[in-house]
Amino acid sequence: MKHTIDYIKTYTDDFQPEIGIVLGSGLGELADKYQEYAIPYNLIPKFPRATGIEGHKGQLVFANIVGRRVVMMQGRFHYYEGYSMEQVTYPIKVMKELGVNTIILTNAAGIVNKSFRPGDLMVITDHINFMGSNPLIGKNDDKFGVRFPDMSEVYNKGLIKIVDAAGRLLNLNLRHGVYLATTGPSYETPAEIKMARTIGADAAGMSTVPEAIVANYCGMRVIGLSCLTNYASGVSDKKLSHAEVINTANEVKDKFTALIMMILQNVK
Ligand code: HPA
Repeated sequence: MKHTIDYIKTYTDDFQPEIGIVLGSGLGELADKYQEYAIPYNLIPKFPRATGIEGHKGQLVFANIVGRRVVMMQGRFHYYEGYSMEQVTYPIKVMKELGVNTIILTNAAGIVNKSFRPGDLMVITDHINFMGSNPLIGKNDDKFGVRFPDMSEVYNKGLIKIVDAAGRLLNLNLRHGVYLATTGPSYETPAEIKMARTIGADAAGMSTVPEAIVANYCGMRVIGLSCLTNYASGVSDKKLSHAEVINTANEVKDKFTALIMMILQNVK
């Protein structure tokens, strides 16, 4: 960890980020627009080596946005790419070490709750970890958090109010819901989505939960935002494709970016 932090600081001098953002599918633009320093993941000691995620640059981007000091992950590491849970969540610990106390996790997700529509944005109120693993498995590092961390409020209720207020100002009709994570990379079956709905999920995706667990464990405040890109399997007759996910994410990215900027302006 020390190597990682020392290296990053050779780039960023004494820029101390306060807010972290993980940019999901189709949301990299914020980083392109505002970057002051950008460090490719492949140059950062101890960082997982990026395998080249479609539509993502794979870099850590530092910027001042609306007066807030922000570090962004332009592209994340997914469990389905073959990274370990530890690798997937290593950047979260790095952000913590850099001084980040609030993190915004974004993703693209499939619609499980039939009253939602593609293109809607959903505030994650809670999650279901259906990945069959946990990023905290292994020896605990007491420096970051306790062995058995509480998970009763992973997504900070005070921050959800701020997100809702931002959504109202922008006329966004934000949804609220529970995000269920599977490992992927295959999309779910209709039976799996029916199960997800039965156990209380509103959206399904392949990311975010490991990062949210680690961020909460580290004592960070978490905001989770899903761009609902498609009806999940069996919710409509349509077959699922990555192209559809990317297309919807692209259509929605301006309002998603506006929401993030409004949140940045209002978080204390
Ligand atoms: N399922 C899982 N992950 C996803 C989906 C989905 O339908 N859409 C975007 N990411």
